[in-house]
Amino acid sequence: MKFFIDTANIAEIRDAASLGIIDGCTTNPTLLSKEKGSYREILKEICEIISGPVSAEVVSMDAEGMVKEGKELCKIADNIIIKVPCIREGIKALAMFKKEGIQTNATLCFSANQGLIVAKAGATYVSPFVGRIDDVGNSGMDLIRELVQIYNNYSFGTQIIVSSVRHPQHVYEAALTGADVATIPFKVLEQLIKHPLTDAGVKSFLADWDKVTKK
Ligand code: E4P
Repeated sequence: MKFFIDTANIAEIRDAASLGIIDGCTTNPTLLSKEKGSYREILKEICEIISGPVSAEVVSMDAEGMVKEGKELCKIADNIIIKVPCIREGIKALAMFKKEGIQTNATLCFSANQGLIVAKAGATYVSPFVGRIDDVGNSGMDLIRELVQIYNNYSFGTQIIVSSVRHPQHVYEAALTGADVATIPFKVLEQLIKHPLTDAGVKSFLADWDKVTKK
C-alpha cells in the first residue's frame, strides 16, 4: 500500500518525507489556502521534496478550462498529477487529459457509480472521501470496498486513493480492503507510529540496560 501525505505544508512534508515511507502528496485548494506564498512556488517545492506523484487541483468548471489549467500546472514539475472533480465536465476533462498522456486524480468521489465512470474515463487515480462520507452518517469504508471489487471485476487500472482520512482506523481498514493508496494528514501519520506499550517498553528496556552497563 502506498502512503501519500495529505498536506501542502512544507515543514510537515519534509518531516514526513524524512521517515522514508512517503510515496506521494495530495493537495487541494483548501490545503494550499492555509499556506503562505504563491501556490505555484509551494507546489514546486513539494515536487522537489517528494519524487512521487503530487496532486494539484484545477478550479475551472468547464472541461476546456480544466485542461488548459492542468497543462499550466504540469509545467511546474514532471510529477504533478491533475486533480479533477467528479462532475460532468470533469469526466470529459479526464478523457482529454488521458489522450494528452497527462495523469489525473478524480477527486470528490462519493459514490461507486462516480468511481466506475471516472475509471471508464481513464482516470489514473480516484479519491473517495471516506471521512466526509462518515460525517454524514454513512460508511466511507463501504465505498472503498465496493470500488476495490468493481475495479477488480473489470481490471480497471485506476488506483484508489483513500482520502479524507481522519484517524488511524481509516488507514488500517483501508489496508484491509486492498486499496492502492491512503493519503494521510500529518497528524494521523504521527498517530500511526505511536503506541503506549512501545513507549513503555522502550523506557523499561533503557532503564534495565542502564543497570547492565553499571555492573
Ligand atoms: C485529498 O486528496 C483530499 O483533498 C483530502 O483528503 C480531503 O480531506 P478533508 O475531507 O479532511 O478535507
